[in-house]
Amino acid sequence: MSRSLNLVALLIVAALALPALAQEKAHKPFGFGKPATKEEIAGWDIDVRGPDGAGLPPGKGTVAEGEKLFMDNCAACHGEFAEGAGRYPELIGGRGTLKSDDPRKTIDSYWPYAPTVFDYIRRAMPFGAPQSLTNDEVYSIVAWLLNQGDLWPADKPLDAEGLRKVKMPNRDGFLAGDPRPDVKPDTCMTNCRTTPPKITSDLAARLGVTPTDRKGD
Ligand code: HEC
Repeated sequence: MSRSLNLVALLIVAALALPALAQEKAHKPFGFGKPATKEEIAGWDIDVRGPDGAGLPPGKGTVAEGEKLFMDNCAACHGEFAEGAGRYPELIGGRGTLKSDDPRKTIDSYWPYAPTVFDYIRRAMPFGAPQSLTNDEVYSIVAWLLNQGDLWPADKPLDAEGLRKVKMPNRDGFLAGDPRPDVKPDTCMTNCRTTPPKITSDLAARLGVTPTDRKGD
């Protein structure tokens, strides 16, 4: 192709592409990507808030269905009674052990809010295939787990409303502030200073053994 023909071809391509590009730019400040659709956002926006269960989806499940699902998807790692298999965590049991020499942290011994169980399982389990379960399946598994911990009756379907009402045994075991003395900024016990320290000599700085600026050199 000759030079002039090349140029003509280039101009034609540019003329065709430019209006489209300008239009694209108008609603895309960075010139790439596209606005996320409602469905795409919904796929990511799956968090469930523990204390009040905000974000729990519609749906429901049963203890009986949950037992089957647990055996098929979870028992290999977490045991047939959720007691843990091998080095995988136990999920139910150990209530009342938190203050002992051998505290066992499980859903029913430790977790303060039941909706968090839904959130965690839907988000992260089964380990090798997270988010592969439907909402109804997750409700069923949660129902079975809570039933294993005597926190949900075997014959009652579990839904968002029911899950919000479950009071976990360790709900009041968490403190808002940390009362241990070693986490307080002031550890002084006697004769404590009430005013900031006064600098009486800059000898160290003059000898060049103390950094004089914040860069540390
Ligand atoms: C391949 C093994 C495996 C399978 C299958 C599996 N899990 Fe897990 N699970 C794990 C591991 C490993 C952890 C710890 C993950 C971590 O701490 O990051 C865990 C953690 C958990 C926890 C949190 C325990 C805690 O107190 O911190 C829950 C709840 C849980 N799994 C539920 C399930 C359920 C329900 C299923 C089935 C749908 C399932 N898991 C399937 C390996 C597995």
